[in-house]
Amino acid sequence: MTTMTFEHGFTMDASSIKFGAGMTREVGYDMARYGVKRVLVLTDPHLADSPPVRVTLDALRAHSIDAVLYSEVRVEPSDLSFKDAIRVAAEGAFDGYVAVGGGSVMDTAKAANLYATYPNDFLAYVNAPIGRAEPVPGVLKPLIAIPTTAGTGSETTGVAIFDFLEMHVKTGIAHRALRPVMGIVDPDNTRSMPPMVAACSGLDVLSHAIESLTALPYHRRPAADDPGKRPAYQGANPISDIWASKALELVSQNIVRAVQEPNNDEARANMMLAATYAGIGFGNAGVHLPHGMSYPVSGMVRSFRPEGYAVDRPIIPHGMSVILNAPAVFRFTALVDPARHLDCARLLGVDTRDARPEDAGELLAAALIQMMKATGMPNGLKDVGFTEADVDRLVEGTLPQHRVTKLSPRPAGSEELRQLFLDAMTYW
Ligand SMILES: NC(=O)c1ccc[n+]([C@@H]2O[C@H](COP(=O)([O-])OP(=O)(O)OC[C@H]3O[C@@H](n4cnc5c(N)ncnc54)[C@H](O)[C@@H]3O)[C@@H](O)[C@H]2O)c1
Repeated sequence: MTTMTFEHGFTMDASSIKFGAGMTREVGYDMARYGVKRVLVLTDPHLADSPPVRVTLDALRAHSIDAVLYSEVRVEPSDLSFKDAIRVAAEGAFDGYVAVGGGSVMDTAKAANLYATYPNDFLAYVNAPIGRAEPVPGVLKPLIAIPTTAGTGSETTGVAIFDFLEMHVKTGIAHRALRPVMGIVDPDNTRSMPPMVAACSGLDVLSHAIESLTALPYHRRPAADDPGKRPAYQGANPISDIWASKALELVSQNIVRAVQEPNNDEARANMMLAATYAGIGFGNAGVHLPHGMSYPVSGMVRSFRPEGYAVDRPIIPHGMSVILNAPAVFRFTALVDPARHLDCARLLGVDTRDARPEDAGELLAAALIQMMKATGMPNGLKDVGFTEADVDRLVEGTLPQHRVTKLSPRPAGSEELRQLFLDAMTYW
């Protein structure tokens, strides 16, 4: 009989970060330092002619770097759209990549870099059980990520998420080697974000931070049998807690102003910092149920079309699909770790001095619901087109998301997930 041993160490990895208004202009200098001569610059069609893309191309060319623009990234990418970018990357013999856009663009650039550098069949590197989760064989070409949303933190993470069309579910590729060598976090690049994009991406930051703070602690996860198999998402740890806590404070103080006042430079800069802080936190600690449950929510969209998203098909934006599950989840998980959930509520500005442990879930959920209302979110899954009849399929789509669901501090099997989706139908 073998006895399970628990993990007794963790790693903290992050991309190098350059922060500040106007810093995009330095991308040519930064790429040149890696000795790169020919770069694929990726963006989405809506941003193709935007100032961040133009500044990036000019800056690269000013350093004699041959910069080729690919502007066909799909917003909320799919396996098909990843494959298109991979084909272009593989044919172009690039020795570096720059992503200018939101999480959709940064994730697509990671996949293009991976498969062009280490060609393999598509499912090889995709998370199990959907793919084979083979480790990335080595170092990738330098990728510099320039976010234009204050959200995903993808500039600091080794994760690339896509919609696996035939299964109607999102999954991803997760490995440290995917992490960009550098993130240029330039608040000027989010000035043109429509309010709904600012809200969804900002609430993604909020959930990243709370999920990594409340994730199963790393030392309660089974140990990997060799260091190379230690997952990118390792559970809460004392260092990720610091990043996530600071991110929560920044989000609570800035998100409403950043959504309602696009010209408020201070609020937008603070939201960008928060996104990067949260990315460093969750990029090592991981996320859990709100994200795991969000993947079928996004994948099973029927007719919902949010304003502000320049796409010609129904979508439930990532941050929206996450936050719609969050209050139900934290009411559920607070029971096993009320102190952590109260901490999160306190960091969001709730007066928790007289709170009892049994109040933790409700206090945190109420704070989230207040922020959802203030940023124009729908009132639960019903408002984006789901009914009780969809719950079985939503559960089915969540169960394969082991990579994240197993980090829930309170285990959730089919029955628990079923109740969580029902609880997320309507909030107010
Ligand atoms: N890799 C990770 O660690 C990670 C983490 C969280 C989410 N994600 C993924 O990231 C994606 C979501 O990314 P996102 O929320 O950043 O949004 P996005 O990249 O999907 O973009 C959303 C919309 O906003 C527009 N947009 C972006 N920046 C803009 C700007 N400055 N001005 C005007 N319009 C702008 C885009 O054109 C698009 O229409 C999802 O696929 C999600 O699964 C990845």
